[in-house]
Amino acid sequence: MTPSTSTFTTRLSDAAEIVEASLQALLADKAAPGELARPPRLMAAMRHATLSGGKRLRPFLTLEAARLFGAEGQGPLRAGCAVELLHCYSLVHDDLPSMDDDDMRRGRPTVHKAFDEATAILVGDALQTLAFEVLADPATAEDAAIRADLVLGLARASGLGGMVGGQLLDLSAEGRYGSAELGEADVRLLQMMKTGAILTFSVEAGAILGKADAAARQKLVAYGRALGAAFQVADDILDREASAEALGKRTGKDQEKGKATLVDLLGMDGARSECNRLVAAAEAALDDFGPHAQILRDAVRFVVERRV
Ligand code: IPE
Ligand code: IPE
Ligand code: MG
Ligand code: MG
Ligand code: MG
Repeated sequence: MTPSTSTFTTRLSDAAEIVEASLQALLADKAAPGELARPPRLMAAMRHATLSGGKRLRPFLTLEAARLFGAEGQGPLRAGCAVELLHCYSLVHDDLPSMDDDDMRRGRPTVHKAFDEATAILVGDALQTLAFEVLADPATAEDAAIRADLVLGLARASGLGGMVGGQLLDLSAEGRYGSAELGEADVRLLQMMKTGAILTFSVEAGAILGKADAAARQKLVAYGRALGAAFQVADDILDREASAEALGKRTGKDQEKGKATLVDLLGMDGARSECNRLVAAAEAALDDFGPHAQILRDAVRFVVERRV
């Protein structure tokens, strides 16, 4: 391990630890001010979906992007947790029988297996609204304009023009709504929406909290887009090559469902060179930030080299 990768690994696991503690507090049984009650079954299922697992890459990106602009502490941590809550909701719904129909996630039974389908739907709903509540809370940022910017950004990244829209395109790509011949541009758009948008927002949220100027924020967005695209190509490569034990989720499912991926369209070697091209693009977007941005350069390498 080079010094830079060992720093990266430590920073990622440190981030995961503080994020875990923060998520635990947000998902406590006791009702928060303004809530009428927290049904224990819903809380148990939300904790199952959210705690003890996952790389916590999205909150890590928020924390590190914020740090680049000198912002640290509760604000970036809470914003990172909001993105992770949203991400966990997307996984719970992605695994539902009517979607990808998966039994394992993060090495454990999916929420609809451990509880039931109705509970899993409500877990997703509640995680999503909690994510927005966390962003809208003054504890995340005193300045109401910053909170509004965060809420707007997460809504756009996760909604119809982002993750949810991408999930619809992804299901269409299986041919369930009629024959679907997807070209490279279609697959890139689908992936940018279903996965890239939220990863990009994870980075942008740090720039918002750090009050980055428009030019710097745009560079971070360009970095996030390249990282997001690389992330999904790597996910598709892992689906083809890795074991379910290593990943903690079923593999080989894209091919089984006839899902269009860049691995199909470009071949395995082509998909790998696409990953390398995207790493270079992400790194180039950080050129102006010098050595302070090294951790974000390491992050994009991690995304394409990860085995989990
Ligand atoms: C998996 O995301 C789902 C996709 C968006 C492809 P991650 O690989 O980040 O999953 P966790 O959070 O580490 O479990
Ligand atoms: C999931 O993509 C993307 C979202 C949850 C939005 P996949 O369906 O490829 O993710 P995995 O492979 O089940 O984690
Ligand atoms: Mg899916
Ligand atoms: Mg899936
Ligand atoms: Mg996948």
